[in-house]
Amino acid sequence: PLNELAKTPQMGWNNWNSFGCDVDEELLISATEKISQYGLRDAGYQYIVLDDCWSNGRSSNGTLQANTTRFPNGMAEVADRIHKEGFKFGMYSSAGTSTCARYAGSLNYEHQDAQTFAGWGVDYLKYDNCYNEGQSGSPLITYERYKKMSDALNSTGRPILYSMCNWGEDYPWKWAQTVANSWRISGDIYDSFNRPDARCPCSGNEEYNCALAGFHCSAMNILNKVSHYTDKGVPHAWNDLDALEVGNGGMTDDEYKTHFTMWAAVKSALLMGNDLDRLSARDLSILNNPAIIALNQDPRGTSAVRVWRHDVDDVDRYGQGEIQMWSGQLSGGDYFVALLNAGNGSREMNAMADDIFYDAGAEGTSEESTMEWTIHDLWANRMPEDVAQALIDGNSTQAASLNVTSYYFNATETS
Ligand code: DGJ
Repeated sequence: PLNELAKTPQMGWNNWNSFGCDVDEELLISATEKISQYGLRDAGYQYIVLDDCWSNGRSSNGTLQANTTRFPNGMAEVADRIHKEGFKFGMYSSAGTSTCARYAGSLNYEHQDAQTFAGWGVDYLKYDNCYNEGQSGSPLITYERYKKMSDALNSTGRPILYSMCNWGEDYPWKWAQTVANSWRISGDIYDSFNRPDARCPCSGNEEYNCALAGFHCSAMNILNKVSHYTDKGVPHAWNDLDALEVGNGGMTDDEYKTHFTMWAAVKSALLMGNDLDRLSARDLSILNNPAIIALNQDPRGTSAVRVWRHDVDDVDRYGQGEIQMWSGQLSGGDYFVALLNAGNGSREMNAMADDIFYDAGAEGTSEESTMEWTIHDLWANRMPEDVAQALIDGNSTQAASLNVTSYYFNATETS
């Protein structure tokens, strides 16, 4: 691996999906406060990642400078405050001459910028793909461009998690395991489970690759892409299905549960992309589900795979929408199974032993299918809304009297 970071997929929060360029140091500090108060830091969300639009270009000697209106105390001070709240600090740049929002990019400044980030106390770099001077279109060219920053970060001596954001171009899952700790696999997610729109040209149920760079991608577009096109991640090097939209209002509660469960099951990086001031108790009780987090953070680090799906013909013929079955191996001999109903109504679905143990190969299959298994529902101990609301209100006494911990521990024991 590249380094010792991200042994399990990184978890945290990124401002982009809810705030775009409307970002300043108070937003980041208030995110740390809320994430702690909601119990999400202790649940594992530890990186606060600043996205595009923080920059004020370069000084006369070429050093990157923060926008002093948005970051009056400077980045080193922001990093310090984030660290004092018990979080790690993520920064953003682009492997191009500019970032996507047209701020200074790091192409040809890799070493200088890596030193600047390390000097500020940065723990994580999201590295975008805009204005790349045409240096893409083949794995080797893209590899060279992203490897430069990877080497530059390494040579600072500071452990900095490296998150590539080249939208799945040039198949990063084939070659980036020694270059980065994660890589985006698709264009940007938008807050929809499977609804097409003008910038999301195909319905989430379609099998071919809808989740291309430059498109808006629904959760099902991206999930179908990871199941069909990408290789699995491995410890220290993960697929990144883009931010979690939970809390942004564009999906139903069940759709958000499905979005979160599947991101966890395929070992995606889990970066919340929400406005923490608008998080409802329901949203919180999705994001803090310790059983789903344990699934994502399982030490074995094996992504679940899609074993079968109803094909598009069936979907059209019966008009009922997509169903899929997923399974995956966990540590300690456990298995994960998902019966995913992306349609509009309730459906009866069966998971046969051969399907469940599919990923274990033929040898495992016969042995495992004759064993006895205990089944746990990973959503059975979902935190009740009144408990989640007490956490949001900062009413820890009420939260404690409603017995938060017993929900946590019940759920953590499930496998
Ligand atoms: C494109 C990336 O895919 C997004 O996640 C975000 O970082 C924007 N660029 C910022 O301009």
